[in-house]
Amino acid sequence: MAEARLFHWEYQAPPVPLETIRIDGGRPLRGEVRISGSKNAALKLLAAATLTGERCRFTNVPEIADVALMAEVLRDLGVVVDHPEPSVYEVSAGDVDWLFVPLEAAAKMRASFILLGPLLARFGRVIISNPGGDRIGRRPVDLHVEAMEALGATVGYRNGYYFAQAPGRLRGGDVVFPHVTVMGTENAMLAATLADGHTTIRPAAREPEVDDLISFLQDMGAEVQRTAPDVIEVEGRRRLRGATHDTVADRIEAGTFAVAAAITGGEVTLKGAPSAHLGAFLDVLGAVGVELAGDSDRITVKGAPLGSGAYTATHVETAAYPGLATDLQPPTAVLLTQARGQSHVHETIYEDRLEWLTDLRSMGARLKVEDAHHATISGPAPLHGSEVTMGDLRAGASLILAALAAQGPSTISGVHHVRRGYEDIERKLLDLGAGIEPEPGP
Ligand code: EPZ
Repeated sequence: MAEARLFHWEYQAPPVPLETIRIDGGRPLRGEVRISGSKNAALKLLAAATLTGERCRFTNVPEIADVALMAEVLRDLGVVVDHPEPSVYEVSAGDVDWLFVPLEAAAKMRASFILLGPLLARFGRVIISNPGGDRIGRRPVDLHVEAMEALGATVGYRNGYYFAQAPGRLRGGDVVFPHVTVMGTENAMLAATLADGHTTIRPAAREPEVDDLISFLQDMGAEVQRTAPDVIEVEGRRRLRGATHDTVADRIEAGTFAVAAAITGGEVTLKGAPSAHLGAFLDVLGAVGVELAGDSDRITVKGAPLGSGAYTATHVETAAYPGLATDLQPPTAVLLTQARGQSHVHETIYEDRLEWLTDLRSMGARLKVEDAHHATISGPAPLHGSEVTMGDLRAGASLILAALAAQGPSTISGVHHVRRGYEDIERKLLDLGAGIEPEPGP
């Protein structure tokens, strides 16, 4: 990682090579695909390992750029991170000598802010860069900071950095959020595990990745429990021990591949898909008319033939879990381009997550972005290949989905965005029969 600079206004992100892929659309995807471990669980698990000096071991960790980056951020702190075999990470935070998370890490990955809680709780201080916003909305971190203050920390802000301190020890307290925040809940919970006394967090996020983190923390000896659907209570401990953990499956990856099958008129079995975590999304697929079969860790998705107009328009609204995940809104929008009638999309979590729909329109979709939170999509509209550029992770994956369903070739650049969160996405699609290949450079 580049040497840290102090001032945010001096920072210039290093250029990322603009990798491009070519997709020849219109081929039904068929076969089986194995669903990887969850990005949004794995990143927090790796950070949680800094709560102890003992070794922690994680399996089913997805091989994605964000995980590699989190490992690099931890190594910069003096944490030993080993990667003995694919999907396995071992973390030993015995000798953390540098309590500083630089802008270079935060600018690349908002999730680096999850280090605030555990480092502050264990070492009593940390300087951490404001991750700022990104392409899907403002995404402030005020609620994380307020949670630390509720646990007795003092947090100053200068030159783009938070300077957090809790001399002695954090103390348990009531963390009350004005609305649900996933990482805010996780940061508060991680901090509270080593605080002095009892902490209550409400409303606590109900996402399955939060429960995966709870189960790892319990194995580390933390006294943390979900005592009501949206309440987490923690009794702080003086120290935690090392533990091993198998990362929960990635429901967002599963949903993305489900749309790939549905939109191409194929038939794909998602092996290891966490069906119980996909309720609201599977309800949308059902309402649209996608055929589904399966059990607790296997879903078979059977699509209607391309262009048959067999799907039905519907209204979708994103919400905190157990509602429809905002991260599945872009893939769902692609599916709705093929549904008969007018569908409505209501994005309630982010302000800018409908912007990418203009790229989808350039591929033939008939849609209107009404305002920052609402769009209408009319279908079925045949999609055609196009030249498009990914702007973020989920919109990027959704452009791939649209290209798979389109007639003719598409070239999609900015592929590094999907590598952040989808393990081996090109190989997995190729194995299902997609026409996908790297575009030779100029
Ligand atoms: C997590 O982000 C996920 N990221 C996101 O996944 C996901 O979209 C999001 O939860 C919602 O499900 C990780 O887990 C690493 P929030 P998080 O705090 O925790 C506002 C993906 O594509 N807010 O639940 O950062 C915020 O702006 C990604 O994998 C504040 O106002 O999201 C948003 O409108 C992207 N102040 C809402 O709360 C704060 O301090 C919910 O965000 C924190 C959040």
